[in-house]
Amino acid sequence: MVCATTFENVTVIATESLSKRFPRVTALDRLSLDIGPGVTGLVGANGAGKSTLIKILLGLSPATEGTAAVLGLDVATSGGAIREQVGYMPEHDALPPDVSATEFVVHMARMSGLPPTAARERTADTLRHVGLYEERYRPIGGYSTGMKQRVKLAQALVHDPKLVLLDEPTNGLDPVGRDEMLGLIRRVYTDFGISVLVTSHLLGELERTCDHVVVVDGGKLLRSSSTSDFTQTTATLAVEVTDSDAHPDGTRALREALTAAGATLHARGEDGLPGAGHILLVEATGEETYDLVRDTVAGLGIGLVRMEQRRHRIAEVFRAGTGTDAHAASDAEAAREPFAAVQQKGGGRDGV
Ligand SMILES: Nc1ncnc2c1ncn2[C@@H]1O[C@H](COP(=O)(O)OP(=O)(O)OP(=O)(O)O)[C@@H](O)[C@H]1O
Ligand SMILES: [Mg+2]
Repeated sequence: MVCATTFENVTVIATESLSKRFPRVTALDRLSLDIGPGVTGLVGANGAGKSTLIKILLGLSPATEGTAAVLGLDVATSGGAIREQVGYMPEHDALPPDVSATEFVVHMARMSGLPPTAARERTADTLRHVGLYEERYRPIGGYSTGMKQRVKLAQALVHDPKLVLLDEPTNGLDPVGRDEMLGLIRRVYTDFGISVLVTSHLLGELERTCDHVVVVDGGKLLRSSSTSDFTQTTATLAVEVTDSDAHPDGTRALREALTAAGATLHARGEDGLPGAGHILLVEATGEETYDLVRDTVAGLGIGLVRMEQRRHRIAEVFRAGTGTDAHAASDAEAAREPFAAVQQKGGGRDGV
Protein backbone atom coordinates (compact mmCIF):
# COMPACT_ATOMS: atom_id res chain seq x y z
CA MET A 1 0.00 0.00 0.00
CA VAL A 2 1.24 3.46 -0.90
CA CYS A 3 0.88 6.12 1.73
CA ALA A 4 -1.18 9.07 0.53
CA THR A 5 1.28 11.60 1.86
CA THR A 6 4.08 10.15 -0.28
CA PHE A 7 2.91 12.25 -3.22
CA GLU A 8 2.30 15.44 -1.30
CA ASN A 9 3.38 18.45 -3.37
CA VAL A 10 4.22 16.26 -6.32
CA THR A 11 2.77 16.85 -9.76
CA VAL A 12 1.01 13.71 -10.89
CA ILE A 13 -0.09 14.95 -14.30
CA ALA A 14 1.33 17.96 -16.13
CA THR A 15 0.49 19.12 -19.62
CA GLU A 16 1.89 22.11 -21.42
CA SER A 17 0.05 23.60 -24.37
CA LEU A 18 -1.16 20.13 -25.34
CA SER A 19 -3.06 19.91 -28.62
CA LYS A 20 -4.56 17.04 -30.55
CA ARG A 21 -5.90 17.69 -33.99
CA PHE A 22 -7.81 15.19 -36.09
CA PRO A 23 -8.43 16.01 -39.75
CA ARG A 24 -11.85 17.49 -39.06
CA VAL A 25 -11.70 18.48 -35.43
CA THR A 26 -9.37 19.87 -32.80
CA ALA A 27 -9.96 17.55 -29.84
CA LEU A 28 -7.51 19.31 -27.50
CA ASP A 29 -6.53 22.92 -27.92
CA ARG A 30 -3.39 24.12 -26.09
CA LEU A 31 -4.35 22.53 -22.80
CA SER A 32 -2.05 23.31 -19.86
CA LEU A 33 -2.74 21.45 -16.64
CA ASP A 34 -1.02 20.75 -13.37
CA ILE A 35 -2.69 18.03 -11.34
CA GLY A 36 -1.47 16.94 -7.92
CA PRO A 37 -2.27 13.89 -5.77
CA GLY A 38 -5.81 13.05 -4.71
CA VAL A 39 -9.03 12.61 -6.65
CA THR A 40 -9.36 14.93 -9.64
CA GLY A 41 -12.48 15.22 -11.75
CA LEU A 42 -12.20 15.93 -15.45
CA VAL A 43 -15.52 17.34 -16.53
CA GLY A 44 -16.75 18.22 -19.97
CA ALA A 45 -19.58 17.70 -22.40
CA ASN A 46 -19.60 14.89 -24.96
CA GLY A 47 -16.75 15.56 -27.36
CA ALA A 48 -14.93 17.93 -24.99
CA GLY A 49 -11.73 15.92 -25.35
CA LYS A 50 -11.67 13.92 -22.10
CA SER A 51 -11.00 10.49 -23.59
CA THR A 52 -8.50 11.96 -26.03
CA LEU A 53 -6.55 13.44 -23.11
CA ILE A 54 -6.56 10.11 -21.25
CA LYS A 55 -5.23 8.24 -24.30
CA ILE A 56 -2.42 10.77 -24.68
CA LEU A 57 -1.57 10.50 -20.98
CA LEU A 58 -1.29 6.74 -21.32
CA GLY A 59 1.10 7.18 -24.23
CA LEU A 60 -1.37 5.40 -26.52
CA SER A 61 -2.01 8.33 -28.83
CA PRO A 62 0.57 10.96 -29.81
CA ALA A 63 -0.17 14.64 -29.24
CA THR A 64 -0.04 16.94 -32.24
CA GLU A 65 1.71 19.65 -30.24
CA GLY A 66 2.79 20.36 -26.70
CA THR A 67 4.06 18.07 -23.96
CA ALA A 68 2.62 15.94 -21.19
CA ALA A 69 4.16 14.09 -18.27
CA VAL A 70 2.58 11.50 -15.97
CA LEU A 71 4.33 10.75 -12.67
CA GLY A 72 7.26 12.70 -14.08
CA LEU A 73 7.49 10.52 -17.20
CA ASP A 74 7.20 11.98 -20.69
CA VAL A 75 4.20 10.50 -22.53
CA ALA A 76 5.98 10.78 -25.88
CA THR A 77 8.87 8.55 -24.89
CA SER A 78 7.86 6.57 -21.77
CA GLY A 79 4.42 5.12 -22.57
CA GLY A 80 5.40 1.63 -21.40
CA ALA A 81 6.81 2.84 -18.09
CA ILE A 82 3.73 5.00 -17.54
CA ARG A 83 1.35 2.09 -18.14
CA GLU A 84 3.25 -0.02 -15.61
CA GLN A 85 2.41 2.52 -12.91
CA VAL A 86 -0.97 3.71 -14.10
CA GLY A 87 -4.29 1.85 -14.19
CA TYR A 88 -6.83 2.58 -16.91
CA MET A 89 -10.57 2.03 -16.92
CA PRO A 90 -11.76 2.56 -20.50
CA GLU A 91 -14.99 4.26 -21.37
CA HIS A 92 -16.37 1.42 -23.46
CA ASP A 93 -16.78 -2.22 -22.57
CA ALA A 94 -14.26 -4.62 -23.98
CA LEU A 95 -14.91 -7.42 -21.51
CA PRO A 96 -14.82 -11.04 -22.64
CA PRO A 97 -18.27 -12.54 -21.93
CA ASP A 98 -17.18 -16.15 -21.48
CA VAL A 99 -14.66 -15.81 -18.68
CA SER A 100 -15.21 -15.07 -15.00
CA ALA A 101 -14.16 -11.86 -13.28
CA THR A 102 -11.41 -13.79 -11.52
CA GLU A 103 -9.98 -15.24 -14.74
CA PHE A 104 -10.11 -11.87 -16.50
CA VAL A 105 -8.58 -9.82 -13.69
CA VAL A 106 -5.84 -12.43 -13.07
CA HIS A 107 -5.07 -12.26 -16.80
CA MET A 108 -4.83 -8.46 -16.67
CA ALA A 109 -2.60 -8.66 -13.59
CA ARG A 110 -0.29 -11.10 -15.39
CA MET A 111 -0.22 -8.77 -18.41
CA SER A 112 0.92 -6.02 -16.06
CA GLY A 113 3.83 -8.16 -14.98
CA LEU A 114 2.66 -9.70 -11.69
CA PRO A 115 3.84 -13.28 -11.03
CA PRO A 116 1.06 -15.93 -10.91
CA THR A 117 0.62 -16.16 -7.13
CA ALA A 118 0.70 -12.40 -6.61
CA ALA A 119 -1.73 -11.98 -9.51
CA ARG A 120 -4.23 -14.38 -7.89
CA GLU A 121 -3.91 -12.76 -4.46
CA ARG A 122 -4.20 -9.22 -5.77
CA THR A 123 -7.20 -10.26 -7.89
CA ALA A 124 -9.03 -11.64 -4.85
CA ASP A 125 -8.25 -8.48 -2.84
CA THR A 126 -9.29 -6.17 -5.63
CA LEU A 127 -12.53 -8.00 -6.41
CA ARG A 128 -13.37 -7.86 -2.71
CA HIS A 129 -12.69 -4.12 -2.70
CA VAL A 130 -15.07 -3.50 -5.61
CA GLY A 131 -17.76 -5.72 -4.10
CA LEU A 132 -17.61 -8.58 -6.60
CA TYR A 133 -16.14 -11.26 -4.37
CA GLU A 134 -19.30 -13.40 -4.20
CA GLU A 135 -19.81 -13.28 -7.97
CA ARG A 136 -16.20 -13.69 -8.97
CA TYR A 137 -16.52 -17.13 -10.59
CA ARG A 138 -19.56 -16.28 -12.75
CA PRO A 139 -18.98 -15.52 -16.46
CA ILE A 140 -18.88 -11.77 -17.10
CA GLY A 141 -21.45 -12.09 -19.91
CA GLY A 142 -24.15 -12.54 -17.26
CA TYR A 143 -23.18 -9.46 -15.26
CA SER A 144 -25.27 -6.30 -14.91
CA THR A 145 -23.86 -2.99 -16.16
CA GLY A 146 -22.92 -2.06 -12.60
CA MET A 147 -21.01 -5.33 -12.15
CA LYS A 148 -19.21 -4.84 -15.46
CA GLN A 149 -18.14 -1.35 -14.39
CA ARG A 150 -16.74 -2.90 -11.20
CA VAL A 151 -14.75 -5.49 -13.17
CA LYS A 152 -13.34 -2.64 -15.24
CA LEU A 153 -12.37 -0.80 -12.07
CA ALA A 154 -10.84 -3.96 -10.56
CA GLN A 155 -8.58 -4.58 -13.58
CA ALA A 156 -7.41 -0.95 -13.39
CA LEU A 157 -6.40 -1.42 -9.75
CA VAL A 158 -5.03 -4.94 -9.72
CA HIS A 159 -1.37 -4.12 -10.33
CA ASP A 160 -1.32 -1.57 -7.47
CA PRO A 161 -0.77 1.49 -9.64
CA LYS A 162 0.14 4.92 -8.32
CA LEU A 163 -2.53 6.58 -10.43
CA VAL A 164 -5.73 5.40 -12.11
CA LEU A 165 -7.39 7.08 -15.08
CA LEU A 166 -11.11 6.29 -14.97
CA ASP A 167 -13.08 7.19 -18.08
CA GLU A 168 -16.77 7.67 -17.24
CA PRO A 169 -16.97 4.98 -14.54
CA THR A 170 -20.56 5.88 -13.67
CA ASN A 171 -21.82 5.52 -17.23
CA GLY A 172 -25.00 3.48 -17.43
CA LEU A 173 -25.44 3.21 -13.66
CA ASP A 174 -28.64 3.99 -11.77
CA PRO A 175 -28.48 6.57 -8.94
CA VAL A 176 -27.67 3.97 -6.27
CA GLY A 177 -25.02 2.38 -8.49
CA ARG A 178 -23.53 5.81 -9.15
CA ASP A 179 -23.26 6.59 -5.46
CA GLU A 180 -21.65 3.22 -4.78
CA MET A 181 -19.16 3.66 -7.61
CA LEU A 182 -18.29 7.19 -6.46
CA GLY A 183 -17.75 5.87 -2.93
CA LEU A 184 -15.43 3.17 -4.27
CA ILE A 185 -13.49 5.74 -6.27
CA ARG A 186 -13.08 7.98 -3.24
CA ARG A 187 -11.74 5.01 -1.27
CA VAL A 188 -9.23 4.16 -3.98
CA TYR A 189 -7.40 7.26 -2.77
CA THR A 190 -8.29 7.35 0.92
CA ASP A 191 -7.67 3.62 1.56
CA PHE A 192 -4.87 2.88 -0.91
CA GLY A 193 -3.29 6.26 -1.62
CA ILE A 194 -3.80 5.78 -5.36
CA SER A 195 -4.43 9.10 -7.08
CA VAL A 196 -7.41 9.24 -9.40
CA LEU A 197 -8.32 11.16 -12.54
CA VAL A 198 -12.00 10.50 -13.20
CA THR A 199 -14.03 11.84 -16.11
CA SER A 200 -17.69 12.64 -16.18
CA HIS A 201 -20.06 14.99 -17.91
CA LEU A 202 -21.93 15.48 -14.64
CA LEU A 203 -20.42 18.22 -12.54
CA GLY A 204 -22.64 17.41 -9.59
CA GLU A 205 -21.41 13.89 -9.04
CA LEU A 206 -17.78 14.94 -9.08
CA GLU A 207 -18.11 17.74 -6.55
CA ARG A 208 -18.86 15.15 -3.88
CA THR A 209 -16.00 12.88 -4.83
CA CYS A 210 -13.13 15.04 -6.00
CA ASP A 211 -10.59 17.26 -4.30
CA HIS A 212 -9.96 19.11 -7.51
CA VAL A 213 -12.03 19.67 -10.64
CA VAL A 214 -10.82 20.44 -14.15
CA VAL A 215 -13.43 21.59 -16.66
CA VAL A 216 -12.76 21.31 -20.38
CA ASP A 217 -14.92 22.57 -23.20
CA GLY A 218 -14.17 22.11 -26.88
CA GLY A 219 -10.68 20.88 -26.00
CA LYS A 220 -9.87 24.06 -24.07
CA LEU A 221 -9.36 24.47 -20.36
CA LEU A 222 -12.32 26.29 -18.88
CA ARG A 223 -11.36 26.09 -15.24
CA SER A 224 -9.12 24.15 -12.90
CA SER A 225 -9.47 24.59 -9.16
CA SER A 226 -10.08 22.82 -5.90
CA THR A 227 -13.63 21.66 -5.32
CA SER A 228 -13.89 23.90 -2.28
CA ASP A 229 -13.05 26.93 -4.41
CA PHE A 230 -15.89 25.98 -6.70
CA THR A 231 -18.29 25.59 -3.85
CA GLN A 232 -17.18 28.30 -1.45
CA THR A 233 -19.43 28.72 1.52
CA THR A 234 -21.73 31.64 1.25
CA ALA A 235 -23.09 33.81 3.98
CA THR A 236 -26.46 32.14 3.70
CA LEU A 237 -28.01 29.81 6.25
CA ALA A 238 -30.31 27.06 5.08
CA VAL A 239 -32.92 26.46 7.75
CA GLU A 240 -35.48 23.66 7.84
CA VAL A 241 -38.14 23.34 10.52
CA THR A 242 -41.07 21.11 11.44
CA ASP A 243 -44.72 22.09 11.72
CA SER A 244 -46.66 22.06 14.98
CA ASP A 245 -50.34 22.12 16.00
CA ALA A 246 -50.07 25.85 16.67
CA HIS A 247 -48.14 26.41 13.43
CA PRO A 248 -49.35 23.96 10.77
CA ASP A 249 -46.97 25.68 8.30
CA GLY A 250 -43.85 26.01 10.42
CA THR A 251 -41.74 27.31 7.55
CA ARG A 252 -44.13 30.16 6.90
CA ALA A 253 -44.42 31.02 10.60
CA LEU A 254 -40.65 31.17 10.89
CA ARG A 255 -40.32 33.27 7.76
CA GLU A 256 -42.78 35.81 9.15
CA ALA A 257 -41.17 35.87 12.57
CA LEU A 258 -37.65 36.26 11.19
CA THR A 259 -38.71 39.00 8.80
CA ALA A 260 -40.41 40.82 11.69
CA ALA A 261 -37.17 40.50 13.65
CA GLY A 262 -35.29 42.22 10.84
CA ALA A 263 -33.55 39.24 9.20
CA THR A 264 -33.11 39.21 5.43
CA LEU A 265 -34.60 36.16 3.77
CA HIS A 266 -34.11 35.10 0.20
CA ALA A 267 -37.36 34.45 -1.55
CA ARG A 268 -38.49 30.87 -2.03
CA GLY A 269 -36.73 29.23 -4.91
CA GLU A 270 -35.06 32.50 -5.80
CA ASP A 271 -31.89 30.68 -6.70
CA GLY A 272 -33.76 28.06 -8.65
CA LEU A 273 -33.15 25.20 -6.27
CA PRO A 274 -35.82 22.56 -6.48
CA GLY A 275 -37.26 21.87 -3.05
CA ALA A 276 -36.24 25.26 -1.74
CA GLY A 277 -39.86 25.83 -0.74
CA HIS A 278 -39.29 23.84 2.46
CA ILE A 279 -36.03 25.55 3.21
CA LEU A 280 -35.59 29.11 4.34
CA LEU A 281 -32.48 30.83 3.10
CA VAL A 282 -31.47 33.39 5.70
CA GLU A 283 -28.73 35.92 5.08
CA ALA A 284 -26.17 35.52 7.85
CA THR A 285 -24.63 38.69 9.21
CA GLY A 286 -22.66 36.85 11.89
CA GLU A 287 -23.06 34.65 14.96
CA GLU A 288 -26.14 36.62 15.96
CA THR A 289 -28.07 35.27 12.97
CA TYR A 290 -27.63 31.71 14.28
CA ASP A 291 -28.85 32.85 17.70
CA LEU A 292 -31.80 34.68 16.20
CA VAL A 293 -32.92 31.62 14.21
CA ARG A 294 -32.51 29.33 17.22
CA ASP A 295 -34.40 31.64 19.56
CA THR A 296 -37.15 32.33 17.04
CA VAL A 297 -37.67 28.62 16.38
CA ALA A 298 -37.77 27.95 20.13
CA GLY A 299 -40.19 30.85 20.67
CA LEU A 300 -42.59 29.44 18.05
CA GLY A 301 -42.42 25.99 19.63
CA ILE A 302 -41.55 24.27 16.36
CA GLY A 303 -38.70 21.82 15.76
CA LEU A 304 -35.42 22.77 14.10
CA VAL A 305 -34.52 20.03 11.58
CA ARG A 306 -31.33 21.68 10.45
CA MET A 307 -29.50 24.96 10.16
CA GLU A 308 -26.37 25.00 8.08
CA GLN A 309 -24.19 27.23 6.01
CA ARG A 310 -25.08 26.79 2.43
CA ARG A 311 -22.54 25.85 -0.19
CA HIS A 312 -22.82 26.67 -3.86
CA ARG A 313 -23.11 23.76 -6.17
CA ILE A 314 -20.67 23.76 -9.05
CA ALA A 315 -23.46 24.00 -11.57
CA GLU A 316 -24.65 27.23 -9.98
CA VAL A 317 -21.17 28.68 -10.28
CA PHE A 318 -21.43 28.18 -14.00
CA ARG A 319 -24.96 29.46 -14.14
CA ALA A 320 -23.84 32.59 -12.33
CA GLY A 321 -21.66 33.34 -15.34
CA THR A 322 -18.17 32.76 -14.02
CA GLY A 323 -17.50 30.45 -16.94
CA THR A 324 -17.94 31.33 -20.57
CA ASP A 325 -21.01 33.03 -21.90
CA ALA A 326 -22.34 29.64 -22.86
CA HIS A 327 -22.58 28.76 -19.20
CA ALA A 328 -24.25 31.96 -18.16
CA ALA A 329 -27.31 30.76 -19.94
CA SER A 330 -30.93 30.97 -18.93
CA ASP A 331 -32.58 27.85 -17.51
CA ALA A 332 -34.06 27.01 -20.88
CA GLU A 333 -30.67 27.26 -22.53
CA ALA A 334 -29.06 25.47 -19.62
CA ALA A 335 -31.36 22.53 -20.17
CA ARG A 336 -29.75 22.07 -23.59
CA GLU A 337 -26.21 22.61 -22.53
CA PRO A 338 -24.08 19.77 -21.25
CA PHE A 339 -23.78 20.64 -17.62
CA ALA A 340 -27.53 20.93 -17.19
CA ALA A 341 -27.70 17.27 -16.24
CA VAL A 342 -26.41 18.29 -12.84
CA GLN A 343 -29.17 20.75 -12.27
CA GLN A 344 -31.80 18.19 -13.15
CA LYS A 345 -30.06 15.62 -11.02
CA GLY A 346 -29.99 17.96 -8.01
CA GLY A 347 -33.68 17.15 -7.56
CA GLY A 348 -34.15 17.50 -3.85
CA ARG A 349 -32.41 19.27 -1.07
CA ASP A 350 -29.00 17.72 -1.29
CA GLY A 351 -27.66 20.76 -3.08
CA VAL A 352 -28.32 23.01 -0.12
N1 LIG B 1 -9.84 8.82 -33.62
C1 LIG B 1 -10.50 9.96 -33.88
N2 LIG B 1 -10.62 10.43 -35.12
C2 LIG B 1 -11.27 11.59 -35.38
N3 LIG B 1 -11.85 12.35 -34.45
C3 LIG B 1 -11.78 11.93 -33.18
C4 LIG B 1 -11.10 10.71 -32.81
N4 LIG B 1 -11.18 10.55 -31.46
C5 LIG B 1 -11.89 11.62 -31.03
N5 LIG B 1 -12.24 12.44 -32.04
C6 LIG B 1 -12.98 13.70 -31.91
O1 LIG B 1 -12.35 14.49 -30.93
C7 LIG B 1 -13.30 15.15 -30.13
C8 LIG B 1 -13.08 14.80 -28.68
O2 LIG B 1 -13.43 13.43 -28.49
P1 LIG B 1 -13.30 12.69 -27.09
O3 LIG B 1 -13.70 11.28 -27.32
O4 LIG B 1 -11.97 12.95 -26.52
O5 LIG B 1 -14.38 13.45 -26.23
P2 LIG B 1 -14.95 13.08 -24.78
O6 LIG B 1 -14.84 14.33 -23.97
O7 LIG B 1 -14.31 11.86 -24.26
O8 LIG B 1 -16.49 12.82 -25.12
P3 LIG B 1 -17.52 11.76 -24.44
O9 LIG B 1 -18.06 12.44 -23.22
O10 LIG B 1 -18.58 11.64 -25.49
O11 LIG B 1 -16.80 10.49 -24.18
C9 LIG B 1 -14.65 14.77 -30.67
O12 LIG B 1 -15.10 15.77 -31.54
C10 LIG B 1 -14.38 13.49 -31.40
O13 LIG B 1 -15.29 13.33 -32.46
MG1 LIG C 1 -14.99 10.06 -23.74
